[in-house]
Amino acid sequence: MEVSGDLPSFPRVLGEGRTPVVFESFYGGIVGFKLEYLNPSGSFKDRGVSYSLQLARSLGYKCAVVDSSGNTAMSLAAFALRLGLEPIVVVPKTAGAPKVSLLRALGARVLMAESRVEASKMAVAWSGECFHVSHLASPIFLEGMKSLGLEIAEHYRSPTVIAPVSSGSLILGVYRGLKEAGAKPRLVAVQASEASPLARVLGVLASVGGDKSSLADALVIREPPRLEEIARAVMETGGGVVRVGDEAIRSALGELLSMGFIVEPSSAVVWAAFNALAGKLEDKDVVLILTGSGLKYSRELENIIGAPP
Ligand SMILES: Cc1ncc(COP(=O)(O)O)c(C=O)c1O
Repeated sequence: MEVSGDLPSFPRVLGEGRTPVVFESFYGGIVGFKLEYLNPSGSFKDRGVSYSLQLARSLGYKCAVVDSSGNTAMSLAAFALRLGLEPIVVVPKTAGAPKVSLLRALGARVLMAESRVEASKMAVAWSGECFHVSHLASPIFLEGMKSLGLEIAEHYRSPTVIAPVSSGSLILGVYRGLKEAGAKPRLVAVQASEASPLARVLGVLASVGGDKSSLADALVIREPPRLEEIARAVMETGGGVVRVGDEAIRSALGELLSMGFIVEPSSAVVWAAFNALAGKLEDKDVVLILTGSGLKYSRELENIIGAPP
């Protein structure tokens, strides 16, 4: 689905976007770490959510609904009240109690669904009355994500961008922003082993860390509605796909934490992919998108990477 005509632009609300880039040299090149986990609610989703909710408000909506128990839900809960919209979050009953508690503390009305699929159906049922932040497929959410690509283009003309991919809203938004700025990126899509439909379509540049990927709990969409569009974008940039499993996620997460990047396991896949491709990437300009904050996982991270000796 696309929207035609010009979409409006909106201001920042809670300081979202304009995240820092930290440059480090590795394997003879300079790597830029784009710290998207420093967004106000702890993930890149704030860009798409802020944009979507501001559009919803301009259209006269009074409430917004999302089906998610993760970063999109947290972002919607943080931004909606601020923008005068009632936040409604539909979560599967498997969602963790601390997350549900934070969503409620932020003022969200939390509705429990029997399953993830049921949660989507319930959100769609609410969408007559409330604006549905449909992050899996909405062109409006993508429009909000474009700012990330525009910011990367402030530093680079032809970067290799390494990004985690589940629904694809992140990588497609980045691509649109980069293209709009006249940059010529190469896109490396990183998928969790258990949810890697791109690998099926395009094959892989590398596959590391085994076939289990339960640590990447934000990278679980096996049939993204935009699969074809994502595959086309990766192909037309001359990029590729890397598949990452738990063993590689665990060590990548430990390494990122030891560099001071407090990210969640799903974000660590990009570091695993970068290491798997080291030597194969001729480009000097590589950007890794660190998508989500590890602070939300603070009680589990030590168990995941194993306590230091
Ligand atoms: C931390 C994190 N990284 C990466 C992704 C993947 O983004 P997308 O679904 O836009 O491909 C998500 C999606 O929820 C996420 O929460």
